[in-house]
Amino acid sequence: MKLPIKKLEDIVREIMSPLEGTAHSYAHVERVAQIAAILAKEENADQELVQTAALLHDIGYAVGEPHNETGARLARRILEQSTNLPEQRIEKTVKIILRHPIASRSKLETVEEKIVWDADKIDLLGVIGIARVFHWMSRKPFETAVNTCFEELKPICKLLNTSSARKIAKRRQRRTTALLSALKEELLIEDLKTIEAAEGNC
Ligand SMILES: [Fe+2]
Ligand SMILES: [Fe+2]
Repeated sequence: MKLPIKKLEDIVREIMSPLEGTAHSYAHVERVAQIAAILAKEENADQELVQTAALLHDIGYAVGEPHNETGARLARRILEQSTNLPEQRIEKTVKIILRHPIASRSKLETVEEKIVWDADKIDLLGVIGIARVFHWMSRKPFETAVNTCFEELKPICKLLNTSSARKIAKRRQRRTTALLSALKEELLIEDLKTIEAAEGNC
């Protein structure tokens, strides 16, 4: 029987509804699932496994920390109750969810684990990555968010595991670098050292 992906999407959307408007909302999950599908195609990976795990990867944020562990337990329950996936595939999905945090990179084994890890991190690159950092650090000092962008976002590109993720990430990384150097200039008012009329309208 085909995996009831629409049913799973509805379940995840409902469970994650309290997280709406946060940096780890269902909208993030949807983006990660789309990125993961692109990577799975490029890497000839198990598309169904990648899609299921990407969809469930952050469900633990609705339950409690550590979100990969709470998420893995909840994902197992959902898959056992709402699908007829064999135990072996449920176990593979649970492992992908358990191993998706940045700190678990050294534990990654299968190409599907690497793809979901990479897709999740690609959503931290480019303009969206910087926007997400400022959003989830909105209660922290502004300087903390700035430092996180400079110190933690730029190295992510080098950590990606699959060659297709690294290819995609290069485009986003160029935007990250351009945005961060503009931010640095403006923080130091260096952009106003010479006042030249820029082309175009405000
Ligand atoms: Fe996560
Ligand atoms: Fe995530």
